[in-house]
Amino acid sequence: MNKTQRTKNFALCCMVLLLSTLSQAQEHVNGQLWMDTDGKHINAHGGNILKYGNTYYWYGENRPYNGGSTEAGIAVYSSANLKSWKNEGVALATSMKAGHDIERGCIMERPKVLYNKKTKKFVMLFHLELKGRGYEAARVGFAVSDSPTGPFQFLRSQRIHANQWPFDMDEEDIKAAKQTDASQWKEWWNDAWRKEVNKGMYLWRDMKGGQMSRDMTVYVDDDGKAYHITSSQENLTLLVSELTDDYLDFTGKYNMVAPGGQNEAPCIFKHKGTYWLICSGCTGWSPNEARMFSAKSIWGPWKQHPTPFVGTATGYNNMPANKTFGAQGTFIYQMNGKPVFMADIWNPRHLSQSLHLWLPIEFDKEGTPVIRWVDKW
Ligand code: DGJ
Repeated sequence: MNKTQRTKNFALCCMVLLLSTLSQAQEHVNGQLWMDTDGKHINAHGGNILKYGNTYYWYGENRPYNGGSTEAGIAVYSSANLKSWKNEGVALATSMKAGHDIERGCIMERPKVLYNKKTKKFVMLFHLELKGRGYEAARVGFAVSDSPTGPFQFLRSQRIHANQWPFDMDEEDIKAAKQTDASQWKEWWNDAWRKEVNKGMYLWRDMKGGQMSRDMTVYVDDDGKAYHITSSQENLTLLVSELTDDYLDFTGKYNMVAPGGQNEAPCIFKHKGTYWLICSGCTGWSPNEARMFSAKSIWGPWKQHPTPFVGTATGYNNMPANKTFGAQGTFIYQMNGKPVFMADIWNPRHLSQSLHLWLPIEFDKEGTPVIRWVDKW
């Protein structure tokens, strides 16, 4: 073999190696670690994807290997193809200042970033728990940035809708809610307690200090209006709230979905004029059966359907559909007009190692969403 031939062969080998490395890097196997372009597992959990220009941004909880609180903050990754993800660092960093709302050691969960076309700002909403207070603060945090990769500037955290009633409760409903008394109920889950919950017992309990906001998502409708959907009232009831035009506050218009239904991890999308809301039940980090609701308006009325999940996670953990294949949803994004369900397979011992599960949403003959296991994509 002469020198030119050797050089050609060497170049060919390099090309083959490069192509095989690229194709490996671009294939994501559901139920396995997903590597970024540095070869590290993507540490962005409970988050969302935002397309800006030709780039996709993936925001999520940067979780430590040990422990349940937040050390670094909210992570951001970028991609041109939704497969090869570059770590862009921390978009919203925790604060080192003692007593700060987002002091290192707080809990920041389920961040969602929106782009506001009018203000040209990137707005982040997230679930915040104050340092050392477990999950009792139940606040929503707001942060803003001029760039998709941050740094996001923390604005504030708050309970929501203090002294505001849902817009669709009439005088009689309000009167009935005001007659409830949450402090009376030492025992939960019985019929009498449920009746009071349905009347708005926790809504009334928190009327002065503001409603709780834990697991949350956001949704931007076709007209640019944005909504915040959150687990409130001790995770018993979902609230849908309208955001102001700049997405930095609530307008005050909100209502309840499925009072007493214990829905967490809300994910929403619209298909052919119908809003589909897919949630989980409340079992901590353990998987449970997903719940699905549909409505013709974001304000309901919402109709409950069986879980959209069918079959088992064959070849992975063989988890059945009634355990959502071991996962819990975090966001639904549209990939070339087709909805994709994004979920986390939580690893509570090592939260940073929690796995990602993305599954296409299909539709049956009646147009109802169906989600089947796929190995990779
Ligand atoms: C379930 C929620 O969906 C998660 O985001 C997290 O808050 C865990 N509970 C904590 O147990």
